[in-house]
Amino acid sequence: MQFLSDSLARVKPSPSIAITTLAGELRAAGRDVIGLSAGEPDFDTPDNIKEAAIRAIQAGKTKYTAPDGIAELKQAVCDKFSRDNGLEYTPAQVSVGTGGKQILYNALMATLNPGDEVVIPAPYWVSYPDMVRLAGGTPVCVESTLETGFKITPEQLEAALSPKTKWFIFNSPSNPTGAGYHAQELKALTDVLLRHPHVWVMSDDMYEHLVFDDFTFCTPAQIEPQLYDRTLTCNGVSKAYAMTGWRIGYAAGPKPLIDAMRKIQSQSTSNPCTISQWAAVEALNGTQDYLLPNTAVFRRRRDLVISLLSTIDGVACPVPDGAFYVYPSIAGLIGRTSAGGVAITDDEAFAKALLEEADVAVVHGAAYGLSPNFRISYAASDEILTEACRRIQAFCAALR
Ligand SMILES: Cc1ncc(COP(=O)(O)O)c(C=O)c1O
Repeated sequence: MQFLSDSLARVKPSPSIAITTLAGELRAAGRDVIGLSAGEPDFDTPDNIKEAAIRAIQAGKTKYTAPDGIAELKQAVCDKFSRDNGLEYTPAQVSVGTGGKQILYNALMATLNPGDEVVIPAPYWVSYPDMVRLAGGTPVCVESTLETGFKITPEQLEAALSPKTKWFIFNSPSNPTGAGYHAQELKALTDVLLRHPHVWVMSDDMYEHLVFDDFTFCTPAQIEPQLYDRTLTCNGVSKAYAMTGWRIGYAAGPKPLIDAMRKIQSQSTSNPCTISQWAAVEALNGTQDYLLPNTAVFRRRRDLVISLLSTIDGVACPVPDGAFYVYPSIAGLIGRTSAGGVAITDDEAFAKALLEEADVAVVHGAAYGLSPNFRISYAASDEILTEACRRIQAFCAALR
């Protein structure tokens, strides 16, 4: 009898975590590796949030809570959706989990049966297809193009939907591209969804607050109120409040779905960390004053990275609307050979050679379902980003 489960064979480990780990090992071995693969802000968690956690510990708020969150946090989530997105929910429609990742996972586990399809625009956040497979469903990926700014068209969505489609996963601004859908672009997609009443929408709004220039964030249930009854609007504190390690994510949607997600959570993690929940209450209810300055820092870094990468022959890099990633195409470099003799046959070979020969860790596009590209996370200082781009420029210039 084989020991490991069949479902494990359907998934692969997260490539971004694998590359970040490898970069860390090379650094520990004495190499001067610059890691631009981790998807987390380099800012510290704001003091008011840390202090709320310390107060919670001192007040003895250190026991189990209700499986899907304390009442205070659920109320804070309702207030946030009302304030920021014009979406009205009651606390019974809210679920809090151990990171946005667990929220998405719970929802898929609670709803997917073998044969159910989940439509995912590519490039996508690495975990979507694997979480779908783990839950027994089938990912149906829809490839966007550089020409459409890494956004799918309504025609593509229409063609991907089938009687077996259970969910459409929507992520704007996107990890890995930073592409954001404008209201009229999202409306064109929600119009398609209105014609397919059996399809539910999972909107992953994790990068809502990290948007630049004239881009205005929008989310499906807000753009098309008729979708409210079949939309799970997901978000979290990890990226906006620099709280990746605290592990708090949340979602709101129809109560029967929220109840089903609670059942899964009650038999897996019981409840998200109590102290982190109190910290998240402060994140959502407390001052939001640092959001704009942090976003301004990310915008400056985006501009720096884009300006340096755009000088490289064979690299094309669209300007992202949000998040802290760029996703340059290396179509112009495929077929060349690195100074160290590596044939750049695809983006994985490119990323490996870049790490080996130039000491820069990036994630290859194939991990996100669209090639040939690579993802840079620019959550790093100007000095580090400038040096990393200089190394990438030199590596590309040396290609034969
Ligand atoms: C698009 C997207 N969704 C969800 C998550 C999960 O965030 P967390 O589990 O840290 O809340 C991430 C993290 O990288 C992400 O990029």
